[in-house]
Amino acid sequence: MKNYIKHHEWQIIEEGFDPHLHRVSESLFSIGNGRMGQRANFEEEYSGEMHQGSYVAGVYYPDKTRVGWWKNGYPEYFAKVLNAPNWIGIRVQINGQSLDLAKCKVENFRRVLDMKQGVLHRTFVATLPDGKRVAVDASRFCSMHNGEIGAIRYAITPLNFSAAATLVLDVDADVVNKDSNYDEKFWNEVSQQADSSLVMVTAETRKTLFHVTTGMTWQLEQGGKKMDVSPKVISRNKYAGHELAVSLRENEPLVIVKYAAVLSSENHPKATLEQAARQQLEGARAQGFDNLLKAHAAVWAHKWEECDITIDGDVAAQQGIRFNIFQLMQTYTGDDERLNIGPKGFTGEKYGGSTYWDTEAYCLPFYLGTSDPKVARNLLVYRYKHLQRAIENAGKLGFTNGAALYPMVTMNGEECHNEWEITFEEIHRNGAIAYAIFDYIRYTGDEAYLAEYGLEVLIGISRFWAQRVNWSADRKKFVMLGVTGPNEYENNVNNNWYTNTIAVWTLGYTLYAIDYVKRNHGGNFNLIKTKVHLQDDELKQWDRIASNMYFPEDKQRGVFLQQDGFLDKELLTVNDLKREDRPLNQKWSWDRILRSCFIKQADVLQGLYFFEENFDRDTIKRNFDFYEPMTVHESSLSPCVHVILASVLGYKEKAYEMYLRTARLDLDDYNNDTEDGCHITSMAGTWMSLVKGFGGMRVRNGQLHFHPYLPDQWQSYSFRLEFRGRVVKVNVAKSGTRVVLESGQPLEVVLNGQSVPLAVASS
Ligand code: BGC
Repeated sequence: MKNYIKHHEWQIIEEGFDPHLHRVSESLFSIGNGRMGQRANFEEEYSGEMHQGSYVAGVYYPDKTRVGWWKNGYPEYFAKVLNAPNWIGIRVQINGQSLDLAKCKVENFRRVLDMKQGVLHRTFVATLPDGKRVAVDASRFCSMHNGEIGAIRYAITPLNFSAAATLVLDVDADVVNKDSNYDEKFWNEVSQQADSSLVMVTAETRKTLFHVTTGMTWQLEQGGKKMDVSPKVISRNKYAGHELAVSLRENEPLVIVKYAAVLSSENHPKATLEQAARQQLEGARAQGFDNLLKAHAAVWAHKWEECDITIDGDVAAQQGIRFNIFQLMQTYTGDDERLNIGPKGFTGEKYGGSTYWDTEAYCLPFYLGTSDPKVARNLLVYRYKHLQRAIENAGKLGFTNGAALYPMVTMNGEECHNEWEITFEEIHRNGAIAYAIFDYIRYTGDEAYLAEYGLEVLIGISRFWAQRVNWSADRKKFVMLGVTGPNEYENNVNNNWYTNTIAVWTLGYTLYAIDYVKRNHGGNFNLIKTKVHLQDDELKQWDRIASNMYFPEDKQRGVFLQQDGFLDKELLTVNDLKREDRPLNQKWSWDRILRSCFIKQADVLQGLYFFEENFDRDTIKRNFDFYEPMTVHESSLSPCVHVILASVLGYKEKAYEMYLRTARLDLDDYNNDTEDGCHITSMAGTWMSLVKGFGGMRVRNGQLHFHPYLPDQWQSYSFRLEFRGRVVKVNVAKSGTRVVLESGQPLEVVLNGQSVPLAVASS
């Protein structure tokens, strides 16, 4: 755990330069706009420890996998979101010395991420080896207004000298992924363009053949006046830049504005990429930094109006929640159904930037509550578009008749994960995809989604479950053998309660959906029925399975068992662990972890969270009291589910402890891994913790319900929800809760069990 980020309501602040923290800060101070993103690398050269990272949404590389023992059904590759051409470079040479913070004395270093405007600022004073001192003031952003544009304003002021200097402003496509399995480079050059106003490099990803054109142009100002400097073009393979000879004058800022355009063949025909990039660059330069920034900041202002959460009385908590919202909003903007949310977003390489069940189970509620419904819908359509691949994926494992198994990890619908106990067995992910359809419809009321896209996905998933279970003659029940539940510290178990529960729920929901579509969208139903060859016998079988499934439980304790045989374990609690045992996944052998009772993340409790309404409070309490003490929360996805259930049970202290853990997970580097990137998907869990946990928000029968409480540590908090064309604001304070309709048609909400009619106040 670290504690170097200064607390501030709207800013993430680092003061003083500690090279040991630089990689953590590079993750924390990342910026993006849904189309591209960028770790907080320095513009100038830096020869110290760092992790260069620029990312372009949807552009990936199928890296050949490494496995010890190949198993049938393994994917051939692991998709990686690529470290993309670097557009931020501004290299400064003074008197033959490079401005390189690893080689200079650094003072007054300050790095600030302004979340309100979405801008990264950095200031410092550096003393070069020969004693020359320069002050630098740099700002940059990836435009939320124009997703293909990034801009940097870099002011350099000599403090004790005047001298000639050389600047190199460049685009570098000769980049590597740190996680490359075979130390390969993933880009080839296609072409370059350079003239006195701009340079562009078009690079192609090997194998996947995406083209990305990255270009840059610039403006210079000195003493408040525009400067004309004729650049020397520098060019080598995969690299192009402008070298500028300038004179630095004591105490006079030289301001470099660098505009970058990053365009991919995902959004433009390859043949017109360069032309489009040129237009973008010329447009950006014509608008200028300030106007670009204004348009960018206006988008953020609008976003914050829709989704801000305020917390009074606890700046650390306020900063935490805004940081989580900020990162989510700059990772996925929801206007492109081909994109999704990687667990690290644009902040690092880990997890390959691919899609996990995290999206459906954790991120969807955030986008439902904070954005236009089309954003969440696009996340669902993404999976609809991958249905055929999910059917092929199941086919590779021997499933037939249109059974669909969605991948554990994917970029384009194909499975990328290759550890048998997860790839083949962590199949509960399929249930989360079905649940997300239900969750979306419950929130938005858009039941027609079933007829359009949802039903086909549900049928594919139900077919999978129906083939994945088997009849146990011994138990006279259906059972599901050889699975891994959400708790990945158990593998290859039989009858994971959560997986059995979500499988049975899916079968039931699919039967409901079939009936609904048949009755309300008969035409669509007939088309789907014919398309997927749906047979009445199948439906009867699904019903039989749903009514005769086996669920492990311990009647004496009144708890569901995580899996068969769970009670054979030595039942310890986390308090029995020594400090030096944690985190278990770094300190213990896998064998020891598997035999222990310790739980990585919510498993039975994940089921109680999803299907809370099917269980009474005592059941939730018994299970929470049994499982939470064994849970080490070594997945970032774990604490939020515990906040929500602890809140249901009135365990306020526990809820708050878990809340802090999720809200400041990265800012305080709880798991000592933020240098790999931020935990973007679990950030949505922070939002859920506050809105569903403390705020007690639920949607029941098409109505918003709230059952809020105020953590003792806070004076008040407020959040906004987009709900069926309205914006509802909830304020929870010591004096009570106020629910206000800010826009949209009147509606009735339920507050602490009482109906409250709401209408927009007339001004
Ligand atoms: C968790 C998974 C999750 C993945 C990506 C793992 O540590 O156990 O549930 O999908 O991380 O966030």
